[in-house]
This record gives sequence, C-alpha cells and structure tokens, in this order.
Amino acid sequence: MTGAGVSAASGVPTFRGPGGLWRHFRPEQLATPEAFRRDPALVWEWYDWRRGLIAACAPNAAHEAIARWSRSPGFTLVTQNVDGLHERAGTANVVRYHGSIWTLKCAAVCGAPDWEDRRVPIDPLPPRCPSCGAYARPGVVWFGEAIPPEAARAAAAATACDVFLSIGTSSVVYPAAALVAEARACGAFTVEINPETTGAAVDLAIAMPAETALPLLKSWGA
Ligand SMILES: NC(=O)c1ccc[n+]([C@@H]2O[C@H](COP(=O)([O-])OP(=O)(O)OC[C@H]3O[C@@H](n4cnc5c(N)ncnc54)[C@H](O)[C@@H]3O)[C@@H](O)[C@H]2O)c1
Ligand SMILES: [Zn+2]
Repeated sequence: MTGAGVSAASGVPTFRGPGGLWRHFRPEQLATPEAFRRDPALVWEWYDWRRGLIAACAPNAAHEAIARWSRSPGFTLVTQNVDGLHERAGTANVVRYHGSIWTLKCAAVCGAPDWEDRRVPIDPLPPRCPSCGAYARPGVVWFGEAIPPEAARAAAAATACDVFLSIGTSSVVYPAAALVAEARACGAFTVEINPETTGAAVDLAIAMPAETALPLLKSWGA
C-alpha cells in the first residue's frame, strides 16, 4: 500500500509535510463534502492548482520499482494516492482506494457515469456535469466519505497476503490505515517504509525514503 510519501520525490506535496498548505488552508478544510457545499469554487481552485502541479510531475524510482514488481503474479497495489503516477509508471493491478484526481463525477448524483477530464486549467471552474448541468466534483474520496465498495473489497482481499508493505503513508487516515493491521492479523509479514516512524504496528520499519529503499529491495518473486 502506498500513500502520498511515494510521490513526494516527484514533487507532489504530501498533506502533512512541507507544502501541504494552500493559501492558509489545511487539506482537511477543503477535502470534505461540507467544504464543497459551502464553496465549490474554492474547493475547485485548490484541485485545479493540485492538478496543474501533478501534471508537471513524473514518476520516480519508487513508482518504477513498484511497477516492476506488479508484473509478477500475486501482486496488488492499494494506493491512497489520487495523482495517477503509479499508472503512468505502468503499474498493473492498482486498487485506487481514494479515487483519482483526473476523474470527475456529478455532484448531484444524477446517474451520469464518472468521466475522465485531464484539462489544466479546468474551464469553466467549477466544471459542470455534461448530463444534468449541476456542478461536477473531483472523483476522489473526501474525509468522511466511504471508500468505493469495489476498491474496499479488493483491498480487503489483498490483505490476505504473505508480505504487506506500507509505503509513504502517515497511517492516520482510516480505513486505509487499518489495512496493515488486518494483513498482520492474517499472518502477513508487515513492513513500513517511511523516513519517519508513524507508530503503525509492523514487523519491520525501514526508516528511508521510498525512492531510495524500494530499488534496493530484491525484486518480487526473485
Ligand atoms: N500524491 C497524492 O495523490 C496525494 C498527495 C497528498 C495527499 N493525498 C491524499 O491524502 C491522504 C493523506 O494520507 P497519506 O498517508 O497518503 O499522506 P500524508 O501526507 O498524511 O503522509 C505522508 C507520509 O509520507 C512520508 N514521506 C514523506 N516523504 C517520503 C518519502 N520520500 N518516502 C517515503 N515516505 C515519505 C511522511 O513521513 C508521511 O508519513 C490520502 O488519503 C491521499 O489520498 C494524496
Ligand atoms: Zn449530473
């Protein structure tokens, strides 16, 4: 499982590290359904800024190592990241636990299927649902929202594994943070890779940046 730390070396700010603030807002003040209801234009300005930033970033050595492992059978990547850099690195079998910043959906839930929109900047802002004309919203999971059922099911299935790596996540956002404990309870050998200790109970903590540590790990299945 990966979190924002995996994309830090690509230049994507984490939520809880330097660069996490936008204007004077914390992400927890903007990434919520309440914030969107109160001020959809403000929330979209923040997403538009993040989309522009991410569009200028490229996958790093951590994404590339994971992409190599993903070609072996039995591999699943559960990512909390919404930036799409794992997919750009060519990773197979990705479970997007928190959705994608490049997917939009109708905020009025009119029944229109979600759609992809990679325009930077987005125009108009806020964008509109092509079916009903209501505001569109980013296709990400906001604080307080449920994980998409299919992603939750696939992630739960992936915890029944031999080895579970928890990479670049502060392990404070639930239910994502519970997956490593579930894997450990199922008998997996659990490893955290993060330059800072998070307090997650794991069998081994490697205090290194992901982009340094992952290329050193023996390749999957070797
Ligand atoms: N890139 C993205 O898509 C992105 C960016 C920010 C936040 N988010 C979202 O915000 C939520 C925040 O949770 P989170 O735990 O993913 O992020 P977080 O911001 O809470 O924590 C990031 C963690 O990464 C660690 N870290 C920093 N640099 C690292 C490196 N080079 N290698 C390894 N670890 C490093 C930090 O010590 C920290 O523990 C998630 O739900 C996610 O969807 C996504
Ligand atoms: Zn609609």
